[in-house]
Amino acid sequence: MAANNPVFGNECGLPLNAVAWLEMHHRCKAAEREQMVRDLQLKAGSLVVDAGCGPGLWVPLLAQAIGPQGRIIGVDISVEALVTARRRSAGTWYAPQVEYKLAPLEQLPLAHGTVDAIFSANVSQYLPEPVKTFKTLGQYLAPGGRLIVKDIDFGTLRFHTIDPGLQARVFQARERWERIRVEHGYPFEDSWVGSKLAGYLREAGYEEIEEKTYLIQRRYPLPSDYRTYLQGIAEWFVCEGAPGLSSEDLTAWLQCFFDEEYNVFDQETFLYEETEYVVSGVWPGRYTSHEAEAQVAVLNESERRLLSLEEVRS
Ligand SMILES: C[S@@+](CC[C@H](N)C(=O)[O-])C[C@H]1O[C@@H](n2cnc3c(N)ncnc32)[C@H](O)[C@@H]1O
Repeated sequence: MAANNPVFGNECGLPLNAVAWLEMHHRCKAAEREQMVRDLQLKAGSLVVDAGCGPGLWVPLLAQAIGPQGRIIGVDISVEALVTARRRSAGTWYAPQVEYKLAPLEQLPLAHGTVDAIFSANVSQYLPEPVKTFKTLGQYLAPGGRLIVKDIDFGTLRFHTIDPGLQARVFQARERWERIRVEHGYPFEDSWVGSKLAGYLREAGYEEIEEKTYLIQRRYPLPSDYRTYLQGIAEWFVCEGAPGLSSEDLTAWLQCFFDEEYNVFDQETFLYEETEYVVSGVWPGRYTSHEAEAQVAVLNESERRLLSLEEVRS
């Protein structure tokens, strides 16, 4: 266990972003993720951007939803993730529909006003200015296009067989740490973002906001992948030195997940749950206030010219 180092990081320094970790996470929640994409009811033939696509795990689900006439552009800042995504799709049925590009969410390699839907899963937790980024993404959407953001919210995480007091102290310590870790040189993270997304989209100017929640529950006996996933999460909660947590709580917490003789996974009463959020909003495609002012100035100018023409003629 490396409780002092960011766990499962990618080359951009983001924890829980290593390709193998993302693949395992995807396998663990495959059923819920398939349901999430079905529920989106994406239109056949749509142009969809998978913003922060990572190793391309959602792409086959999106491709199935939009059919053979649809197109997907996967965008990410991680070269490693994009190389893996390209390899994953090579030779598959959906390969002709997919392209992967290296770009940040804030600068998509596409013209403004052209995209039917932007889908972004498990990325908003790394955005220091989510409202600003969502607003920027809106410009790439065709009027009436949709931004769909899926993310976790660790405020909903519960292990029913772990002392609630210990859980509360661990979670509170992590939440406090996430608010200040940027000041200590770590990248921004908000693992409590899910329940905030609807508000962020509203503030960014989206309309017809819809929030869907997905309760994920797993009981004893846990598949081995899921055990590894939860061990990683447990470790991540107390990584970077577990600031704000006592050494007794740190030891007790890690024992719950790693003790060879007595850990939570081997208890027949084991029950874990968390709720994930899928929030979508429609981009109205109206002018921003800045663009509106510029447009009014143009209209005023043409009005002034018309009036002066009338004066000349009269
Ligand atoms: C947790 S992974 C999720 C990957 C994938 N969407 C999934 O759910 O499997 C987050 C991904 O977002 C990418 N990412 C983070 N911030 C980004 C940004 N500003 N622009 C583009 N990609 C970003 C990371 O490189 C990483 O691949």
